[in-house]
Amino acid sequence: MPKIAVTRWIPDEAVRVLESVGEVAVSPADRPLTPEELREFVSGSAAVVSMLHDRIDSTVAEAAGPGLKVVANVAVGYDNVDVAAMTERGVVVANTPGVLTDATADLTFGLLLALTRRLGEGERLVRSGRPWSFHLGFLLGSGLQGTTLGIVGLGQIGRAVAERAAAFGMRIVYSGRSRKADFAGEFVPFEEVLRRSDFVSLHCPLTPDTRHLIDAAALRAMKPGAYLVNTTRGPVVDESALADALEAGEIAGAALDVFEAEPDVEPRLLGRENVVLTPHLGSATVETRTAMAVLAARNVASVLAGAEPLTEVSA
Ligand code: GLV
Ligand code: GLV
Repeated sequence: MPKIAVTRWIPDEAVRVLESVGEVAVSPADRPLTPEELREFVSGSAAVVSMLHDRIDSTVAEAAGPGLKVVANVAVGYDNVDVAAMTERGVVVANTPGVLTDATADLTFGLLLALTRRLGEGERLVRSGRPWSFHLGFLLGSGLQGTTLGIVGLGQIGRAVAERAAAFGMRIVYSGRSRKADFAGEFVPFEEVLRRSDFVSLHCPLTPDTRHLIDAAALRAMKPGAYLVNTTRGPVVDESALADALEAGEIAGAALDVFEAEPDVEPRLLGRENVVLTPHLGSATVETRTAMAVLAARNVASVLAGAEPLTEVSA
């Protein structure tokens, strides 16, 4: 039986799919493996089921050995995988698109509402035991209706966010590589998304082109009353520039579910009331995480059976 290395816990349903095609080893560590541990762990594997915190590069492929056929990343994003290096070795790379679209779009709205209705601030106040009482001017936020949502990167998740935004009565502008003929929002240059939006929500993948897409200049281009929401990958935002912009009052607030040096967070963000911080929860529902792991396992099963993967990515 071919060896299948799973770099961290996955739901049983997915383990069972893998067990039908190989001998499964799941890392027992309740943390990401170090690069050395990862190389040792994958040694002799035909398949690696990887997490977004694993850096899968040529050294990992080399450590796995010439029998490596497939890397199945349990995430839609695959910036952690050197796809070109895998392709060069004939190793198939797969991700998990589609199954986490709704969960991530839902969380995006949770963050939008947390920002505009000051949920974190209110929660901290109640827990603090400090006195408070209802009054007409107490912890006022702002509504979403009639505001403009700017979507950066109109993939499946961006579209699902747009559907929700329509239900909240928001206008939609979007930027990306191309206009989508079947989508009702207004396609505008990235700079115009920044200039016009009350909320800028990031849904582009992390690539060399999108690293620090939100830098000091981009933040300055946003409206002073605007909010930034990041549920994609931390390095799309220059976190230090974001802290500067918040300190200078250049934007109204930000919600981050992902971080530049995850799990570390720019310390200047931690004490700010107008910042919402969540620990990479975009896809974190039982159903979604199970579906992601099962899809990754099916990708492995297909490739090891000599068939096409279900959701392959290419460099
Ligand atoms: C999660 O962040 C993913 O890319 O699936
Ligand atoms: C670019 O960000 C795109 O998704 O088109």
